[in-house]
Amino acid sequence: MSNLDKALAYAAANQEANLNELIDLLRIPSVSTQPERAKDVQAAAHQVVHILTQAGLENVRLIPTPLHPLVYGDWLHAGPDKPTLLIYGHYDVQPAEPFDAWESPPFEPTIRDNYLYARGSSDDKGQTHLNIKAVEAYLKGAGTLPLNVKFIIEGEEEIGGPSLEQFIPANQSLLQADVALVSDTAMVSSSQPSLVYGLRGLYAFFLDVTGPDHDLHSGAYGGAVNNPINALAHIISQLKDGEGKVLIPGFYDRVRPLSDEERGLLAQYPRDDARVQKETGAPQIWGEAKFTLNERMGARPTLDVNGIIGGYTEVGTKNIIPSTVHAKLSIRLVPDQDPGEIAHLVQQYIQQIAPPSVKVQISSRGGAPASITDFSIPAMQAARQALAHVFGREPILMREGGSIPVVGAFQEHLGMETILMGFGLPDDRIHSPNERFYLPNYTRGTETVIRFLAAYGG
Ligand code: BES
Ligand code: MN
Ligand code: MN
Repeated sequence: MSNLDKALAYAAANQEANLNELIDLLRIPSVSTQPERAKDVQAAAHQVVHILTQAGLENVRLIPTPLHPLVYGDWLHAGPDKPTLLIYGHYDVQPAEPFDAWESPPFEPTIRDNYLYARGSSDDKGQTHLNIKAVEAYLKGAGTLPLNVKFIIEGEEEIGGPSLEQFIPANQSLLQADVALVSDTAMVSSSQPSLVYGLRGLYAFFLDVTGPDHDLHSGAYGGAVNNPINALAHIISQLKDGEGKVLIPGFYDRVRPLSDEERGLLAQYPRDDARVQKETGAPQIWGEAKFTLNERMGARPTLDVNGIIGGYTEVGTKNIIPSTVHAKLSIRLVPDQDPGEIAHLVQQYIQQIAPPSVKVQISSRGGAPASITDFSIPAMQAARQALAHVFGREPILMREGGSIPVVGAFQEHLGMETILMGFGLPDDRIHSPNERFYLPNYTRGTETVIRFLAAYGG
């Protein structure tokens, strides 16, 4: 029996135990953005340390940071002529609110119809876990690995990864590898795998608009004092036109034009308006007319208001001019837009359009550049082979509209490319109530990673 077959057999024999271990990890509400959950985030990190240790990895440790811990582990005995693979994942999750929209509680993992429902099941505890289990299957099943492996697993991905961003340049030799592997994206469908070669970047900011220093009677003062919510709406209305083109001067200056070749590649993703309408429940599909749906969803920058807090929102009416309003906004970036430069353009433009009748304060909430992976590298070939074997179809190369900040940081500080080989599905409802992971993909994902290790290690 080959080592590969031994690893596959080990994974097959341990499926149920693996799933139970994942379920235990999903019980921990490791919501990185909620300060009151910091203890839970810490507990999840300890759980990951335990899982890596049990898997047979060495030098496993929890690395404290100013915020949430990193977890590291490695196995480096394949020899210097074998490649080194850095596997990244994140154990933090998005907030689960609103809780009452969940059919089963977000932190009580439940299996229904071949899906595992829980916050983090797909993004990203489930996908991180199957990578660990693939490595474990080799170590325990075959007693060795066909390459050197390092793990770095973070607890701040959902808040932009500030600690890891600092950690990478300061710990280059610890993390140095030939390539990184990340399972934190989705396939096209359960029968069509994908490899993601592009991610959008992000720039997030808050807008605080203040008018009078206390709420006013809207009859007594209406017409004399500007209303901060109206003023905010007016500002927001000048950020984009009706079809979604961003109106901030200079915003598109550095956007790398799409070549005909790339437009051809993007067109291969079989996705149309009807499908996205079904996925989202939106009454109509919308966006820049000059770009296709796939281009708009992965290769064009966007701007969105994520939330507005302000005014009277309780039951009944209240005739006021509120004193303040707060908005949370985010911009998705594409190559070669620079988050710092975009921050500056946003600041300049908003200060310019803000009326003097209100005070407008902009506070940056961090950013990450977009990334494009060179898909001619050998690891990409190994990933294609592994996916094609398990799913019976060649993966599609695609760009993803979401962001994974570490990918750009690996490129910048370690000169390292990342293979984005994800096993989520577009209807996993990540970041939403009723997040789920398609259980057959947990098993197939484990097998794919095992085959990837074999193909890349040689
Ligand atoms: N796993 C997602 C990225 C993603 C989104 C991949 C959609 C595939 C499809 C990741 O956990 C995520 O949500 N990232 C954040 C990053 C941000 C906080 C910097 C995002 O995209 O909003
Ligand atoms: Mn994720
Ligand atoms: Mn996420």
